[in-house]
Amino acid sequence: MCGIIGYIGDRKACEVIVRGLKRLEYRGYDSAGVVTGDGSSLDIRKGAGRIDDLAKRLRFLDMKGTRGIGHTRWATHGVPNDTNAHPHTDCTGKIVLVHNGIIENFAELREELSQRGHVFRSDTDTEVIAHLIEEELKSSDDFEEAMRRALKKLKGSFALAIVYADEPDRLYFVRNESPLVLGIGNEEMFAASDVPAFLEYTNKVVFLDDGEYAVVTKDSWTVKKLDTGEPVEKGVHEISWTLDMAEKAGFPHFMLKEIYEQPRAIRDAIHGNRETIGRVAREIANYDRVIFVAMGTSYHAAIAGKYLFQKLAKKIPIVEEASEFRYEFEDLIDENTLLIAITQSGETADTLAAMKLAKRRGAKVLAIVNVVGSMATRIADLTIYTHAGPEIGVAATKTYTTQLTVLTMLAVETAAVLDTVPLERLESLRKALLSVPEFVEKVLELDGSLAELAEELKDRRDFFYIGRGIGVPTALEGALKLKEISYIHAEGLSAGELKHGPLALLEDGVPVVAIAPDGRLFDKMVSNIEESKARGAMIIGLSNRGELSKVADVFIQTPDVDELLSPIVYVVPLQLLAYHLSVLRGNDPDKPRNLAKSVTVE
Ligand code: AGP
Repeated sequence: MCGIIGYIGDRKACEVIVRGLKRLEYRGYDSAGVVTGDGSSLDIRKGAGRIDDLAKRLRFLDMKGTRGIGHTRWATHGVPNDTNAHPHTDCTGKIVLVHNGIIENFAELREELSQRGHVFRSDTDTEVIAHLIEEELKSSDDFEEAMRRALKKLKGSFALAIVYADEPDRLYFVRNESPLVLGIGNEEMFAASDVPAFLEYTNKVVFLDDGEYAVVTKDSWTVKKLDTGEPVEKGVHEISWTLDMAEKAGFPHFMLKEIYEQPRAIRDAIHGNRETIGRVAREIANYDRVIFVAMGTSYHAAIAGKYLFQKLAKKIPIVEEASEFRYEFEDLIDENTLLIAITQSGETADTLAAMKLAKRRGAKVLAIVNVVGSMATRIADLTIYTHAGPEIGVAATKTYTTQLTVLTMLAVETAAVLDTVPLERLESLRKALLSVPEFVEKVLELDGSLAELAEELKDRRDFFYIGRGIGVPTALEGALKLKEISYIHAEGLSAGELKHGPLALLEDGVPVVAIAPDGRLFDKMVSNIEESKARGAMIIGLSNRGELSKVADVFIQTPDVDELLSPIVYVVPLQLLAYHLSVLRGNDPDKPRNLAKSVTVE
């Protein structure tokens, strides 16, 4: 998983590229590189490390030229080091390219090209592409034609930016199962893996589709099909996100800013979907077999979705991790299935594969997505946007609560279509949902006390998060947040499961975070809390019922929110707790080790 940026125009290309790479760092940050040039001489600088350090060490900003491309890497093939950093070149050094994705048949291609005398310098799958184009150029004077012929030999996913030294007036950009967007400026052109990379220069974009490439000069752009070379008509879209929305707005980290943006994001998710939800709910109502697929945090949203649909629409959806679904469900899907894929990025490889499988088998596919124009929206028959705005922190926060918001609306409206719940109950849920942003504002006020709690907990080794019913996804998500950014071991589980094994791990002082909203299962939760307390656990209880303070060592008072809406509100203190623990332990919560924002490879 990597980030790509390209520029051609009259500006100093290195400046545009370095600024873009900084904004793409969420896609990967183990190494980076830049190539720029005017005329046919190219300057390539690359190395292992973070962009800021590399920019100083390799003096990226001294690079001359008004065209160039850059790359920030998250290693898949070949360890993160200076040699494996992109760009990569052919033997002549004239073909220079950067890549996001995986070339599945690179080993055989490399073998074949080595036998023909090509010398490889890196361990990457990417380098093979440059040599393959070089090989094709031996039988053609036309670079574009040679590039197309070479790329047809690749199996796998690739977004590419390519510079050819002998064609100083142009750049090439290719998309196949990895994201790439063109930015259309005035006498200047941009391309990147994601819009914020060039949003400060232009908000006019062209989304490339799979199997397309663009030939871009400073004042023109043409999109063509990779297999035939025929031009494709493409629309120019105007992006409404401001750059400010994509930047930290005074917060020390993107994650904290994004946690605080949740009231606004939830409001947008509600109001931005008023029109679509009813239509989609009518569609869902037609299906007996509904399957949710997702990964990570989005998977937790899917679990919450399952509870909501059970409770309200009296449907029992199947919830599967997309990585499991894609290999286990082939024979079980048909045109009577509705697959609901939840993915903030719309680019998660496993989720896209699950969607494609469902489409192949004739199922209807609905995507709940945050990133406009992402691949998931192109595969799906129906799309609902979560309207969270760009999420830069690797840990999902506002995209999760907006997914929950959309799922709640869908469950309520499907119940309305199916007439499974009294109208007054649905009306009260609709109303209560409108107040959720205020409830989230209320829990954000707990930030100071959560920071103090984090101070007390920062050296603990293990955490447990427990919940029941609709509280289970919150327990799972609370634990995931803690693990991924604080690197503390955490388990999230249903409280009923405790005495079937995990209870053995409880000893003096182990924090147990208990999600206990008022509702049918409140008393059951209190019993589970007592069980844990009897083993010496330190209970951190979240509830709108004050009596929990009698059993909890630390009591977090939540607002009086309907139990079915509680996932949206209760997760927020857990995000804040994880955030403070991460910072206190000296970590960068925006860029947790070993993780990247969108997992575009399997
Ligand atoms: C959670 O904080 C992570 N960023 C991760 O689990 C994420 O939710 C998962 O990779 C799925 O991503 P998606 O929603 O973009 O498909």
